[in-house]
This record gives sequence, C-alpha cells and structure tokens, in this order.
Amino acid sequence: GITRHYKFNIKMQNVTRLCQTKSIVTVNGQFPGPRILAREGDRLLIKVVNHVKYNMTLHWHGIRQLRSGWADGPAYITQCPIQTGRSYVYNFTVTGQRGTLFWHAHISWLRATVYGPIVILPKKHVPYPFPQPFKEVPIIFGEWWKTDTEKMISQALKTGAAPNVSDAYTINGLPGPSYNCSAKDTFKLKVKPGKTYLLRMINAALNDELFISIANHTVTVVETDAVYVKPFKTKVVLITPGQTTNVLLKVKSKAPSANFLITARPYATGPAAFDNTTTAGILEYEQSASSASKNKTRKLTLLKPTLPRFNDTNFATKFSNQIRSLATAKFPANVPKKVDRRFFFTVGLGLNPCPKNQTCQGPNNTMLASSINNVSFVQPNVSLLQAHFFNKSKGVYTTDFPANPPFKFNYTGTPPKNLMVSSGTKVAALPFNSKVEVVMQDTSIIAAENHPLHLHGFNFFVVGQGFGNFDPNKDPAKFNLVDPAERNTVGVPSGGWVAIRFLADNPGVWFMHCHLEVHTSWGLKMAWLVMDGKGPKQKLQPPPSDLPKC
Ligand code: C2O
Repeated sequence: GITRHYKFNIKMQNVTRLCQTKSIVTVNGQFPGPRILAREGDRLLIKVVNHVKYNMTLHWHGIRQLRSGWADGPAYITQCPIQTGRSYVYNFTVTGQRGTLFWHAHISWLRATVYGPIVILPKKHVPYPFPQPFKEVPIIFGEWWKTDTEKMISQALKTGAAPNVSDAYTINGLPGPSYNCSAKDTFKLKVKPGKTYLLRMINAALNDELFISIANHTVTVVETDAVYVKPFKTKVVLITPGQTTNVLLKVKSKAPSANFLITARPYATGPAAFDNTTTAGILEYEQSASSASKNKTRKLTLLKPTLPRFNDTNFATKFSNQIRSLATAKFPANVPKKVDRRFFFTVGLGLNPCPKNQTCQGPNNTMLASSINNVSFVQPNVSLLQAHFFNKSKGVYTTDFPANPPFKFNYTGTPPKNLMVSSGTKVAALPFNSKVEVVMQDTSIIAAENHPLHLHGFNFFVVGQGFGNFDPNKDPAKFNLVDPAERNTVGVPSGGWVAIRFLADNPGVWFMHCHLEVHTSWGLKMAWLVMDGKGPKQKLQPPPSDLPKC
C-alpha cells in the first residue's frame, strides 16, 4: 500500500438550509465533509487542526485500527480532545478491509455536522465480487437542525428531557423538495440508460434508522459495513445510524419519460419523538437528443416510491435476516465456533435522579437515562486508553463491568418497579484472542426501542436474533455459525435480542455504544479492555508524540 495524506481543518462555516443560515462546525468548510479515498493496505495520515471554540475528536467509523487504538478517536476513550488551536495526526493502516465506511466527530453532538464518507477500494487489479459498476456514488444521509445542536443537547442533559427532533433529514447534506424552502437544495443522481451504478449509502443521522427507496427501481445489496454479502434484491433498504450499505443500481436500458424520487424516512418502534418527515433526492436519466427536444416542451412526471410504515418491524426483521456473509474461500466468514467469554447485556432506557434544586422533565421529576446491564456509563476526565497504557487506571475506571444484568425480569412484560440505573466508568477486560459472545437484550423499559449497537475496533458476526426473552437453553442451538452477517453496527430489535461473536485480537480500549446519539448521551455505552498478547505483533503500540493532553 501507499501513504495518503489529508489535512482536515476544523472551522466554522455559514450554511443555509430551509431558508435559514447558521454557522456550523465543518471540515475544510465543507458540508458534508470531504471524502477519504484509500485502497486496502494503504496508510492514512490525517492531520486535524482545530480552529473552533469546541474541543474536537474524529473517529474513522468501522476502521479496525489493528494495534493503532490511539487513532480511533472517541473522546476520553482513546484520546483527550484536540483543543482549540491544537492539532493531531490520525495515523493508521487499512488492514483487511475494503468498502464503504464513514468518519465523524466523536465528541458531544458535533457529528451532527462533522461527517463524511470513507471509500476503501480493493487492492489494485483486484475486482469486486460483483459486476463492475460504471460509476460509484457516495450517498450519505444526515439530519439538519435549525437550532444549535450543542445548546440543545446540553439543555436536554440538564433537564433530562428528550432533545428536539431534527427539522429535516438530508441526502449529501441536502433536505430536498418535500421541505419548505428547500427545492433548490436537492441531491440529483444523473444516470446513463443501461448502466450499473454502485451507490455507497451511509446513515450518518444522529438519531434515526432510515428506510430508503427509489421509485420504480430495484437495487441489489452487495455489501454492508465494508463486508461483501450474498447479493439480494430489494425495493427498500433499511440502514441504522452507524451502518453502511452498498447497493448496485442497474438503471433502465431506455430513458423513461419520468424522473424518480429517492426518498428516506425513519423506521421507529418506540413512542419516542422522531422527525416523521421525508427527505428526497431525484434520479434523472440522460435523455437522447430527440427525446430531450420532445421533453423540453413537457415536464417529466416525478414518480414517488412507497416506503414501509414507520414501525414496520416485519420488514425490518426480514431485511436484516437477508444479510449474509459471502462465506467463500476468498471471503471466508471466520466466526468463532467456540466461545471463551459469554456476556448477557440488557440494553435500554432507565432513569436517573434529578440533581438537587433542579426541575427535571422525566417522569416524577427524574432524568431520562440509558444503560447496559443497568450501568449508565460515566465519561472519565482522561482517556481510558492512556490510563490503561500508563498503568494509571486508579480513580479512572474499574474492570468490573458486569457480565450479566444485576437482576433479571421479563424483558417484554411488566418492567421492574425501580427504574433507576447505577452509574460508573466500568470496562470489561478480555485476554488477548478471547472468543467473545455477547447477547444483547432490549429491555423495553420506558420505551420499546431499537438500539443500533456499534463496536469499535472489531467486526462481529450476528449469529442470532429473535423476539421476546433470549432463552439460553434453546436459542443458541439455532445460531448461524456458517454465513452470519459480519458488521460493526447491529440493531438490537425492540422487544427482542441479538447475539454477536467476535475474536478479541486487537489490544486496546474499545468503545461500544448505541449509535443513536441521544442514547449515548444518556449512558448507553461501555468499553472493552483487550489485553496485550505475548507475541511482538500482539501488543498495542506506544502513543504518538502529538497525542492530545487533557
Ligand atoms: Cu460511529 Cu463510536 O461511533
């Protein structure tokens, strides 16, 4: 591989959407941010210079960061933030991965505007395991708030209320024609009849899973989270925040006399407030000279796709069950067949007491909270990775993250009386190369919501999922150890569970959290501490000299 250099200047930029201009945090003044392009095996040196008043960190979501945890980016987990006027070079090599990922700010809610695509091409002269596309197009979904998201979240965290929902969803930063004052801000995909396009779709929204569809067109899913999958056709794609999905779009062989909307709208199961609006882009065919002159006089019809109902869990389940690893000799599914460490995690909402002399907006004057095994994660003041590497864990974190919930109850029945969570900075320690299984059970406390759980530093295999309570005596017999999906983010279904397995072959501290930003803020997060192995290539490297200080 080669070394590629990028310079990311974090700076404010005025951006106008929905007829309102606001100053947002950007990379190089671009919104969405610049695309990072690399090939498998390349080394990336990304110099980030912070020119804004906020602390900043960037995360390369889905990049494995083999032994390079210092470049992973989550604030106070693997690094202290880059302070105003400071810089940091993220230095990592793309090992054994190719496909679509994305980068985003990983501190507070700054990823609302600070994100962009990562495209990793296969090594030179290595073809895709699917028809070579004519063109490749990154399509990144996001959200837009008219208000300042930082203010909004600090307000929400103070009062314990759910924060405001966004004012629009966006495609490549553009809300599209279904919003007031937005028709000119519409993403356009111009295609040549008969050609095949690779759409690299990324859900960078803060808080919503999205259904996506193109009117009168079917797509073929070929990759998820930068892992090739067994191709399957679908009219609708579902992507949770943190997930990426590559689809092939073979367009019609003759230009039809119509344009086609590309729309996205949330999939949401809970009663929680969500932005029930639709963002749209337009698929346009290049017209032949004769039809173009004909069409000049009449307007092309604009066709709309049909999306599933906002709470169509049937569709969501069917869709995620279709995602299977290729599991071929060239692209094997290295699922751990045996397990050394088993974890059963309850994930969901809960409550925290209201601070003294304050009025809170949660039920009975409480604050909304989120937890894993009833532990609501408290962000430390120094980075966990530094504390670990320099043997200074005392007072920073403890290694007693519970492998099982403190109490069991019927997760889909009546919730327990006491909904209070406990708080702490706890990590789960794993010996190098442990084969880990984690069953994540949605608790349905307060709200039966899907939680897209994201794991840093690893891909995992989704070996099983189901509804109701996980049954440790019956369900494991049904696990798929042959061709399960391999990914970095998985939706824990509302009122159900999902089982994942991974090999802990990457020493360091690795964050795992719900990729709905509001749930992360409320504490739905934890960290794994993977110890060094004995071999020379099994140890975490020392930190770079420019690693930011707290
Ligand atoms: Cu995409 Cu921890 O994040």
